Amino acid sequence: MKNPIIEFKNFSWKYENAQDFSLKNINLKIFEGDIIGVVGANEQGKTTLLRCLNGLIPFNWRGTLKGGVRIFGKDILQGSIEEFSKKVGFVFSDPDSQFTSTSVEEEILFGLENLNLPIDEIKTRLKWAIEEFELEGFLSKPPYELSGGQRQRVAIASVVVMKPYVLVLDEPTSMLDPDGKSEIFEILKKLAGEENLTLIIAEHNLTELLKIAERIIHIDKNEIVYDGDVQRFVDEFDYENLQIYMPEVSQVFWHLKKQKNIPFLLEDAVGKFQK
Ligand SMILES: Nc1ncnc2c1ncn2[C@@H]1O[C@H](COP(=O)(O)OP(=O)(O)OP(=O)(O)O)[C@@H](O)[C@H]1O
Ligand SMILES: [Mg+2]
Repeated sequence: MKNPIIEFKNFSWKYENAQDFSLKNINLKIFEGDIIGVVGANEQGKTTLLRCLNGLIPFNWRGTLKGGVRIFGKDILQGSIEEFSKKVGFVFSDPDSQFTSTSVEEEILFGLENLNLPIDEIKTRLKWAIEEFELEGFLSKPPYELSGGQRQRVAIASVVVMKPYVLVLDEPTSMLDPDGKSEIFEILKKLAGEENLTLIIAEHNLTELLKIAERIIHIDKNEIVYDGDVQRFVDEFDYENLQIYMPEVSQVFWHLKKQKNIPFLLEDAVGKFQK
């Protein structure tokens, strides 16, 4: 059995000013090459879990921690955000919150220049990012002039160019239209395949996510209530829970399975579909 690259053991976290624990008794192993969807309704603990993957919790937020997390073998309390962030890159749902530069090119270079790499390596990586993320046409533009999908592409590129092993994305497409959403998931799929990146993606809307995820972690009431493959998750899901948006095909099949009066007239069947 391979060693996990990130492991939670009996982990709980309460924010300093909160009444209750936002994560309770989390036991979780993440392996190299995993493509994980973290799903759940609002306020159940998805973002909090992601923040623990690169040290944002406990270093940027105060609170009470129980149990432990190891990131690439190192106890979270023994390391630092700087150290963990080199291995685990983080992309937020709002790309603008991540931007610090006035042009796309500077944005891509910003993190790279902090890594003290030789100039040739910086040039090679910049060229790679421009090709991989199709940024050729707008390198000198300020990020705010781009479309939402393009902005998120730049945000992901500026993290991936630093070559983390793991990429964590917190609802990366929640601000995008359907085309923008599928564009981002296409890129993530390519990155997982070509760069062997481990991906951990929180989402409410599972239509695109389920095209690439190989494992689902469902968080409900601050606990992991499901951790397993996609098919069983889709089969066992409570479709009355409308805060998690399942693909339309899954919803249709679930409704059909529930039907009692099987129609025998085409117009009745069409009527039932329209409900
Ligand atoms: N900085 C904070 N201080 C205090 N409580 C917080 C903080 N951040 C989150 N919480 C609380 O922790 C719980 C889990 O929140 P979290 O943001 O992790 O949920 P989420 O599943 O990501 O929700 P959403 O779908 O809305 O993004 C919530 O009860 C929330 O109010
Ligand atoms: Mg969240």
